[in-house]
Amino acid sequence: MEFECILVETKEKVGLITLNRPKALNALNDQVMNELGVALKAFDQNDAIQCIVITGSQKAFAAGADIAAMANYTFMDAYKGDYITRNWETIRQIRKPVIAAVAGYALGGGCELAMMCDFIIAADNAKFGQPEVKLGTLPGAGGTQRLPRAISKAKAMDMCLTARMMDAEEAERAGLVSRIVPVDMLLEEALSAANTIASMSLPIIMMIKESVNRAYETTLSEGVHFERRLFHSSFGTEDQKEGMKAFLEKRTPEFKNQ
Ligand code: CAA
Repeated sequence: MEFECILVETKEKVGLITLNRPKALNALNDQVMNELGVALKAFDQNDAIQCIVITGSQKAFAAGADIAAMANYTFMDAYKGDYITRNWETIRQIRKPVIAAVAGYALGGGCELAMMCDFIIAADNAKFGQPEVKLGTLPGAGGTQRLPRAISKAKAMDMCLTARMMDAEEAERAGLVSRIVPVDMLLEEALSAANTIASMSLPIIMMIKESVNRAYETTLSEGVHFERRLFHSSFGTEDQKEGMKAFLEKRTPEFKNQ
């Protein structure tokens, strides 16, 4: 498939997707989300890829769902046709880790897309917000659900109700982002994190992602039970044998993703 709104590259074992609609600050229309879904699935199915990075430009990760595209939708377009967010769930089906490397604006659907990734590395100029209230609507791709889980009810309410933006420092303090780096270093840092992940055992990485995500969907005792089952399963992999043997032999493990 030819992509028009995203750039897709491979950097060793890392798949890099760059949102590329600069004139609209990477506003997320149906085509962008469709292309993103296709690229993500292709990387997920590609045995040579072990981790994925999604980024935007230095000015905008993404300034939200495309307001021009949806401004005149009726309730039936939105509800029955599901025109606005019908492509948005693909990212949740991806089993390999996905890092959001966010510089500039991550607003509305942009913030929601970043939160759908497994973790966010922010540039020092990043700004996060859910300004839908100013448009006479509300977050529609998980903002009211993932934000309270990520940063507390108080801050989520504050952001969704007042539309104020959160800078990178506040986002890191609140736990929305895992680290902040100077904007010029963002891609390097994100690729370095992705390469570190890519040097581990892929099935173990997938189990870790599955287990951490389970924490959001279940009780603590069920989650711990689920984790224990995966932990036990890891002893059925060759990579667990190699990882522990290498530690005892004081050498770097050579994982085979088996
Ligand atoms: N949709 C469509 N176009 C957008 C856009 C969006 N979300 N955000 C920016 N653009 C366009 C602007 O219309 C403008 O286009 P033109 O040059 O053709 O006029 C271009 O991008 C540059 O934008 P600005 O001139 O506004 O740039 P700025 O630097 O002055 O301001 C900004 C930047 C603060 C991000 C401002 O563009 C803005 O507030 N954007 C809208 C943010 C927003 O409300 N996002 C939520 C969308 S709704 C949503 O996402 C629903 C959901 O949950 C799924």
